[in-house]
Amino acid sequence: MQESYNDAWSPRSSDFSCFSSSSHPSDADDELDDNMSRAGTSEREESASGGESGRSSPSPSVYSYHSSIDGNVMLRDIHGRMFNNTSDHYMLPADAAEHGRLDLQHEMLKKKRGGLFYAPQAVRKALASREGSQPSILDVGSGSGSWVIEMGRLFPHVEVVGLDLVPANLSSTPPSNCRFECDDANLGLLHYKGCFDVVHASCVAQGITTYRKFMDEVAEILRPGGVFLTVAGDMHIHDENRNALPLINEGEPGFTYTLRLVHAIRDAMRARGPGIDAYPKIFGWLQDQGNVWESIGQKIVYIPLGPWEDDMSERDKYTSELMRQDFFRMIQSVRPMLLSYGWFDETVDKWSAGAHEEIKILKNKYYIRWLFTWAIKPGQTT
Ligand SMILES: C[S@@+](CC[C@H](N)C(=O)[O-])C[C@H]1O[C@@H](n2cnc3c(N)ncnc32)[C@H](O)[C@@H]1O
Repeated sequence: MQESYNDAWSPRSSDFSCFSSSSHPSDADDELDDNMSRAGTSEREESASGGESGRSSPSPSVYSYHSSIDGNVMLRDIHGRMFNNTSDHYMLPADAAEHGRLDLQHEMLKKKRGGLFYAPQAVRKALASREGSQPSILDVGSGSGSWVIEMGRLFPHVEVVGLDLVPANLSSTPPSNCRFECDDANLGLLHYKGCFDVVHASCVAQGITTYRKFMDEVAEILRPGGVFLTVAGDMHIHDENRNALPLINEGEPGFTYTLRLVHAIRDAMRARGPGIDAYPKIFGWLQDQGNVWESIGQKIVYIPLGPWEDDMSERDKYTSELMRQDFFRMIQSVRPMLLSYGWFDETVDKWSAGAHEEIKILKNKYYIRWLFTWAIKPGQTT
């Protein structure tokens, strides 16, 4: 059983409703009251004292957020883009432009998967209505908030929590069963012990300092029968035979700006922590966790970087075009990180322009690899 989606997609306009203090702070305040958790005063404290959901929340790691006061504390300007101000490990922007890119990527992944998640039977079973406790979902590194909002709409009886270092620039008003918390997952998740039926972590490994430890915590915060879903885009370029391509230096045969740029991105990310190397290891680590999981699964897909394959279906053309647009925007998003790593402006600009042109004219037949994993806990919550 998979969800079906409307094909229509349009890029986010700059005047969408926005929770970030960097735009419309006063408008956002009312929405924040409904959607952002405030440490010490809202869900967290209510839960700790045995609130409706019966949660225990011993950890004080949730930040209180008031858009007009704290925006400058939570966000910082680096080379002209806004970034989270709490973690040096994660260095992609946290602004509306980046959240627009994430929306586009979200649309591509949804199209490729044919829905919001794999393992649909297990997910629907875990989220089935029941007496006693409200089913709930945690999205770690919720980014633009689109997955949270769409899950909230798809499962109106379920509580959906988005957790991120920074507030989302939401593209639509979230339904009342969704809320967002600002927190750093590296500070620990065990205050959520036994609270969730689904934990989703999409493209967040770069910001997780010890992914293996994070996985142990996820197993703890899931209820019996709970499902852990991960998504990861590989920071490699694969050729038309699906082989990962090594760096080829300028002047050598086979050099492309795209390869040069992607290798530079990976080096700069690796300098910020081991998360970038965690992606391909997740499935093996799920196996290592042994009987923590009743079953595990993985799906690997290769999405063409632009519609270069022969005889593509309309759907595949659309997905590969989204991949190309995502890549174009990623080139912009990584610029501050590459400059901070030490590359000169002129170098980054030359590589970026070269890579943009190569992908625009489909000079090379490249794939981006995506890894999806899922793991299901034994038992059932009644
Ligand atoms: C590449 S985005 C992916 C967003 C979304 N999951 C998606 O797939 O579109 C990664 C997100 O994870 C957040 N993030 C990174 N490290 C984090 C951490 N340690 N704790 C919470 N959020 C984190 C970032 O702020 C960013 O919004």
